Amino acid sequence: MTPDSPLTEQLGDIERALRAELSQAQNEDALEDVRVRFLGRSGEITAVRRTIGKLPAGERPGAGRIINDAVAEYETLFERRREELAREALEERLRQAIDVTFPGIPPLVGSIHPIRRTMDDLLAYFERRGFAVVVGPEIESDYNNFDALNIPPDHPAREGLDSFYLRPDLVLRTHTSPMQIRVMQRNPPPLAIVVPGRVYRRDALDARHLYAFHQIEGLLVAPGVHLGHLKGALTGMCREVFGPQQSVRFRPSFFPFTEPSAEVDTTCPACGGAGCRTCGGSGWIELGGAGMVHPSVLREVGYDPDVVNGWAFGVGIERVAFTRHGMDDIRAFVENDPAVLEQLA
Ligand code: PHE
Repeated sequence: MTPDSPLTEQLGDIERALRAELSQAQNEDALEDVRVRFLGRSGEITAVRRTIGKLPAGERPGAGRIINDAVAEYETLFERRREELAREALEERLRQAIDVTFPGIPPLVGSIHPIRRTMDDLLAYFERRGFAVVVGPEIESDYNNFDALNIPPDHPAREGLDSFYLRPDLVLRTHTSPMQIRVMQRNPPPLAIVVPGRVYRRDALDARHLYAFHQIEGLLVAPGVHLGHLKGALTGMCREVFGPQQSVRFRPSFFPFTEPSAEVDTTCPACGGAGCRTCGGSGWIELGGAGMVHPSVLREVGYDPDVVNGWAFGVGIERVAFTRHGMDDIRAFVENDPAVLEQLA
């Protein structure tokens, strides 16, 4: 049998038809239809095989081989089309799943929380001046939090109203001042410490109040310490975080553990003291309390008030950070909205 014998021609026609149909088939099912029609039991190839019987016996094996070769070739064509369809299907799925023209999501880059950063800056000022940084427990005895600080049992701050009591004798510290007691009890004077930490008060949550916030306590005890030293230290601290133009003002106040006592204000950095919305028109921002350590407190820890005296202050870190960033709602510090934190970073 020659290449262009009727059989070869016939197989060639089938192949052309097959190629045409394969390129039309758009999925597995259509492909299977085509297979049945060409290679199935009652398909085209079976019809061709039947014609072998009519050939002279000598030509039958050759014709059989030609048909088998053709079938192998058809199988290859089927296989190729099947792979092509699978690839197309996958590409379509990927097209639907991944729109490569869509803007990407930039990774969030972490940053130091503004409270931590302000705390670090305040501490750095005192560390450079030889103050030791110490930290203490957030759960305090009511002795350290109140009694030893000369806060008598009938003082309003002792009532459950302002404090979170865990037991009659244990409280979530309402200020960092109990660390004055802990440190003085364990160390002889002179000493100079700063104490950063979280404190708790039963305040109603609003734009200016959190029930857990941070303070820095400062304590300096040595012979001959006076109020001027305290004001100098606080002025330096304010200039460190707000800039060289800051001044500090003391307003007479009362704390059981200091005498005299003062509320500490600093120039409103938003208006430079002229008066604006940030400072409520006063030109000043209140940062915390301060004063000369009360002789009763010194005596309580075994110090002799005739030999040493000291100053102490407690500054609200949120207050400083809030003012520094010109914020209008203190709750932003604890909501941890990435967009806000990123802006404050
Ligand atoms: N502990 C006081 C408060 O939290 C602040 C303070 C600290 C006042 C040290 C005087 C001396 O309000």
